[in-house]
Amino acid sequence: MIARLTLIIAFVWVAWRGVPAAAYDWHLPAGVTPPKVPADNPMSAAKVALGRRLFYDADLSLDGTTACATCHEQGRGFTDGNATHPGIGDVQGLRNVMGLANVAYFDPLTWADSTRHRLEQQAVMPLTNTHPVEMGMHGKMTVLVGRLQSDTCYRQMFAAAFPKDAITVANTVKAIASFERTMLSFDSPFDRYQRGDANAITPFAKAGMVSFFGKAGCAACHSGVNFTDLDYHNIGTGNPHDEGLETVTGRTMDKNRFRTPSLRNVAITAPYLHNGSAKTLEAAIRAHVGGDSNMAQIIPRGDVAELIAFLETITDRTFVTNPSLSLPQTACGKPF
Ligand code: HEC
Ligand code: HEC
Repeated sequence: MIARLTLIIAFVWVAWRGVPAAAYDWHLPAGVTPPKVPADNPMSAAKVALGRRLFYDADLSLDGTTACATCHEQGRGFTDGNATHPGIGDVQGLRNVMGLANVAYFDPLTWADSTRHRLEQQAVMPLTNTHPVEMGMHGKMTVLVGRLQSDTCYRQMFAAAFPKDAITVANTVKAIASFERTMLSFDSPFDRYQRGDANAITPFAKAGMVSFFGKAGCAACHSGVNFTDLDYHNIGTGNPHDEGLETVTGRTMDKNRFRTPSLRNVAITAPYLHNGSAKTLEAAIRAHVGGDSNMAQIIPRGDVAELIAFLETITDRTFVTNPSLSLPQTACGKPF
């Protein structure tokens, strides 16, 4: 009897422990690996819906003027078209707004901070940064939580996303990170070409692609599915106002090193480079002038017009118009 009971308990225990977390449907094309998700922040539709609302909510900034989406606009691949974007109170930004396509796959994050590994960790920065001020919530976390708590619909959405847990800053950034992980871009003409549609890109762009991965040497750094090795390089773009990775590590060898940016949707994310100093793709490519990259020799080997034609094929119209990534029109079943 006892043995049978033990067996049943053991069986129930194993069955309970063995239940996998509800698998999240990423809607990815065949062959694309889903991004890694931190064990303490599994994906759920409720979290993504909450994160989407938070991403578009200017009430997350001190004076109610600035949402994440103010700087990260979907139609521009989640950039904003400016060299740098001022935060609240018109405090000038230091760096160019980065696109967020496939950001779920990036570690480290941002142009030059080797300590930012997770989206949860990164999302706190714009909220609380003091240099430059972006959303101005430094030291105002109780204000932020108070605002969310005073909204009935946010209370419902947090309860659905984090059952039995309170509205906290940690849960706020977890939800935002979950939404960001759904910003997936794999439907550009280049992606379709890769999947076997030989006519998805023009012969001229194909020549650019061959050059990009071959003689022009671009893929040495712009490698992999997102065209970035996620490593830091000095290509000769440093300036006295921004020492790049050195600012964080303090090591002189890191002077003027920046993380290779992804080139997904790059044709619609001008201006370019860490400070937005290149207005066109041609200027961005020609800015690779040396540093430790030796681009001075590499660039003349590739035809810049061909390279640009290739870069234009990485623009994903499905992504920039995807309704599930846009400003939500309703919350808790009601229009705003
Ligand atoms: C005032 C403009 C501004 C606002 C508001 C803003 N960002 Fe950004 N974002 C930037 C800039 C500029 C960078 C590059 C920062 C750097 O490298 O120093 C960036 C970088 C990022 C990155 C890194 C992308 C990568 O490829 O590594 C993520 C993720 C991100 N932002 C998410 C957010 C989220 C989430 C919010 C809202 C909580 C937000 N941003 C609000 C301007 C902004
Ligand atoms: C040695 C590594 C390396 C090589 C090789 C390289 N790049 Fe870059 N690329 C970078 C880095 C690092 C940046 C960012 C520099 C900055 O912001 O100051 C960058 C920036 C860019 C940008 C601007 C993107 C943006 O969003 O701001 C484009 C476009 C670009 N590269 C295209 C190319 C092309 C085309 C080639 C080949 C001709 C190439 N790169 C070769 C490392 C490299």
